[in-house]
Amino acid sequence: MKRPLAYIAGTGRGIPAKVMTNQDFAALGLETNDEWIVERTGIRERHITAEGETTCSMAATASRQAMERAGVTAGEIDAIVLSTATPDRLLPATAVDLQAELGASRAAAFDIGAACAGFIFAASVAEGLIATGTAETVLIVGAERMSSIIDWTDRATCVLFGDGAGAAVMKRTNPSAGPHPKGVLATYMRSDGTLADLLYRPAGGATIPFSAQVLADRSHLVKMAGREVFKHAVRSMADATDRALDLAKLTGKDIDLLIPHQANVRIIEATAKHANVSMDKVYVNVDRYGNTSSASVAIALDEAIEKGVITEGKTVMLVAFGAGFTWASMIVRF
Ligand code: UT7
Repeated sequence: MKRPLAYIAGTGRGIPAKVMTNQDFAALGLETNDEWIVERTGIRERHITAEGETTCSMAATASRQAMERAGVTAGEIDAIVLSTATPDRLLPATAVDLQAELGASRAAAFDIGAACAGFIFAASVAEGLIATGTAETVLIVGAERMSSIIDWTDRATCVLFGDGAGAAVMKRTNPSAGPHPKGVLATYMRSDGTLADLLYRPAGGATIPFSAQVLADRSHLVKMAGREVFKHAVRSMADATDRALDLAKLTGKDIDLLIPHQANVRIIEATAKHANVSMDKVYVNVDRYGNTSSASVAIALDEAIEKGVITEGKTVMLVAFGAGFTWASMIVRF
């Protein structure tokens, strides 16, 4: 097992106040119901942004809380790595809006696009920046306003997603700390772009720019081959847990808490079973948030710390899968 180079010093979340329940879809005239959504996904409600709430505003709320808990001021942040599939504008990165909002004037700020696996990708980038000495203190954020890119007339996708943000401050692990210092014990990231069209937004980018036609056929919104994605999610999350455990030279029995991407409780259960982690050691909040893409693992991590489920000395495994496809895992000692 490697000696940790970076640790999570504080976390936070930014959640819109407005709650949309499964029953609320009836008002949209969609042929769906609470029973179907709960049985197939485990989702009961999700948070949706109101007028004036943005990806950046949710990210800022999450970041301020993470910075306060880490005891870090905006001026001490060397880099902001923000994962989002729903940037407020296509140019520049939402990370620079967040930098301006926080007053983190020394920070390099940039977005990464790795969809639902993006928060773990961001944590891995932060670990690398810290390991090379480029940064001492990195703010990582997963922030998503999925309500702005889903097709509210497509019952197969719109019931699945929600809005929210989660953040963490990562810092350099003290090299002279004791024999079991806290920090990142293993990271693993993979992608398979040959499967991109199973979960994507066909238009609205540089190849097929916005036009009246695009707006009319709704091809700028999320399209997903749900059943196919499900199969790959189960397979890839299993691969990711295997690899992280191998890298850290641990087994499922050593994991105190598994925090999987919150897309579907059936995928979560399959992942836990494969990793040999019992469900009482798995953090689940998909029932209250739906799938918040790259914010999902970050929100769950923050809740688990706040609730006292994660305390000092605990070993936590994060695992996620998303559009790309991308998948990733990380084992962290707190
Ligand atoms: O963030 C990472 C990426 N996303 C995921 O991980 C999501 C992966 N996929 C899934 O979680 C599941 O595939 C879904 C929840 C999206 C769908 O569940 P499923 O058990 O795979 O259902 P299905 O797509 O095979 O659809 C079954 C039936 C279909 O009707 P027929 O063809 O059997 O008559 C659908 O039209 O359910 C119908 N259906 C619905 N019915 C009521 C689809 N959406 C709905 C709905 N309400 N909202």
